[in-house]
Amino acid sequence: STSEPLKVMISGAPASGKGTQCELMVNKFGLVHISTGDLLRAEVSAGTDIGEKAKEFMNAGRLVPDEIVAAMVTARLSREDVKQKGWLLDGYPRSLAQAESLEKLKIRPDVYVVLDVPDEILIDRCVGRRLDPVTGKIYHIKNFPPETEEIKARLITRPDDTEEKVKSRLEIYKQNVEAILSTYSNIMKTIDGSRPKEVVFEEIYSLLSEVQKDKVKLIKSG
Ligand code: AP5
Repeated sequence: STSEPLKVMISGAPASGKGTQCELMVNKFGLVHISTGDLLRAEVSAGTDIGEKAKEFMNAGRLVPDEIVAAMVTARLSREDVKQKGWLLDGYPRSLAQAESLEKLKIRPDVYVVLDVPDEILIDRCVGRRLDPVTGKIYHIKNFPPETEEIKARLITRPDDTEEKVKSRLEIYKQNVEAILSTYSNIMKTIDGSRPKEVVFEEIYSLLSEVQKDKVKLIKSG
């Protein structure tokens, strides 16, 4: 372990596999996973003020206002576990304003991973996605069916996973992507996310291992 833990951002269109890959990265690298989608869904189900405000935007497949999300992320990033273990930011920044607010705070990742997946695959992945509310695990009715009947019976569908809403989420992603990429172009790695999840992860694993090695070298050489 090093005195400077890894800092990773992962981005990609809706259902490109960010959450799926984050689960695998957390297992291997012990990073703190900060998913703005997960944080917002938790606020919605707890019925907090933030959740009440965010709900209508999320259900419509639109972005939640920047101030709400920025405050949530900054609070989470300042907690002690993040300093110890490093962070994995998933679904943030998602607009130029969000990227700029991180830059202002001098919060930058070591690497910016982009999962690249063609549109037709994305729609199918979203519509077939199911979540286990007990374990938080992500399933897909065809690609990754649940292991048992008991799990199958409790799976839920996200309200924003209808074909129509996926199309609108994809549109919003495309409107914002260029502006965000320009902030991170020098540390960006694009990975073909259309392959099986284990294959995608192998590539992410060797990428992060390299980045980690380089950090250790930098620290040792002062
Ligand atoms: P968020 O939860 O971030 O949704 P998203 O970006 O649309 O991404 P998803 O969670 O849909 O997909 P994913 O890439 O994680 O894919 P997954 O691994 O699940 O955001 C939701 C909403 O919250 C937003 O619309 C917005 O309203 C709000 N929000 C969040 N962040 C915000 C921000 N920063 N600012 C403002 N608003 C914000 O995989 C998808 C499916 O495919 C699964 O079924 C999975 O099993 C399957 N799958 C995964 N990998 C593979 C593979 N390799 N092969 C085959 N199937 C696969």
